[in-house]
Amino acid sequence: MIKTLRSVISLRKFDPNTRRRRLAKCGDIDDVRLLAKRQLPGGVFDYFDGAAETEWSMANNSAAFANVRLQPRVLVDVSNVNTACSVLGQSLPYPYAFSPTGFTRIATSAGELAVAKVAARHGVPYTLSTLGTRSIEEVAKVSSGPLWYQLYVWKDRGLSRELVQRAKAAGYKAIMVTVDTAVFGRRDRDVRRGFTLPPKIGLETFIDGIRHPRWTLDFITHEPITFSAVAGRGDVDGSTAITLSDYVNSQFDASLSWRDLDWVRSESGLPIMLKGIQTATDARTAVSEGVEAIALSNHGGRQFDGSPAPIELLPEVMDAVGNGIEVLIDGGVRRGSDVVKAVALGARAVMFGRPYLYGLGAAGELGVEWVIDYFNAGIRRTMALVGATDLAALRSNGALVERG
Ligand code: LAC
Repeated sequence: MIKTLRSVISLRKFDPNTRRRRLAKCGDIDDVRLLAKRQLPGGVFDYFDGAAETEWSMANNSAAFANVRLQPRVLVDVSNVNTACSVLGQSLPYPYAFSPTGFTRIATSAGELAVAKVAARHGVPYTLSTLGTRSIEEVAKVSSGPLWYQLYVWKDRGLSRELVQRAKAAGYKAIMVTVDTAVFGRRDRDVRRGFTLPPKIGLETFIDGIRHPRWTLDFITHEPITFSAVAGRGDVDGSTAITLSDYVNSQFDASLSWRDLDWVRSESGLPIMLKGIQTATDARTAVSEGVEAIALSNHGGRQFDGSPAPIELLPEVMDAVGNGIEVLIDGGVRRGSDVVKAVALGARAVMFGRPYLYGLGAAGELGVEWVIDYFNAGIRRTMALVGATDLAALRSNGALVERG
């Protein structure tokens, strides 16, 4: 009997690392999200997790992927699947990059440095946000991988010029201008909580902090969080807590228009990607303005609630601009098959932010590694299951496409 029991009972080897143990039990990004929710104070989690107003656009971004169905081809030799692509002249091992995310250090003190390091190890482009909490140079120092810089244009053009030039000098390879934030979206969760940056330690946060001792210890034992792009500039550098909408609406230039793109280009001399294109008409204008790439995006549903999901918009935009420009999408990407669906519909690559933030909040660098491994395996598996040996085959072998 002992022999029989021995042959059927197999206990998982105990891993002394708690974070790794918890990650091992995660099946998908939703599980990692829940893990992050347990680790982070409510206000921090809600800032990352929440979106504008009813959050319909955010929910629809992911839900819309279910309306795209791939038609698998069989009896194709998929023993080797090539997932490589190129974006803005750089080769990517898999067709995705990390979107910019603000204030990444509120998840954990290493913040942007942790994410950039892991991204570099895997050759995934990392985009540092203008509202990042680690400087352009700090991030460049820890990363030997591809880096892009996301630009919000400040009313103070001198400051924007300086940021773009610093990014170029530090070796960033593209400027991603976010174009959906003329004014800041209303995020009701942040409004309810009175969420500020840096987070204020009021009574509520204090109680939340006791319930999240690991986060709290990390937060109070590291240097204060500031907007690193403007560190040392007193009133605008985040040394006093402010709501993000007040900050953005007072500092960023709501008059930004197509005419200003030449200015960005001449200051940086780098390729430009416009992130936040939401119509085929604007995609056409981007082509005629000579922009190198666009990312169809509604800012993860954080700006205008009611905008279409990027994956819904993609076919129309591909019809309008064809191969005239590199088209990426960003929003709602939660698994490898989502990436493959976007590529099959014509996207060069996709981008995502929340999944890596969940990974970071759940388990620091290990969590970001988990997310990358999960996406990479999912992309390879999906391609094998639909009978595509490389990304071009996805568009040409009929492994496609039905939209419901
Ligand atoms: C946001 C800004 C920082 O979505 O992009 O919160």
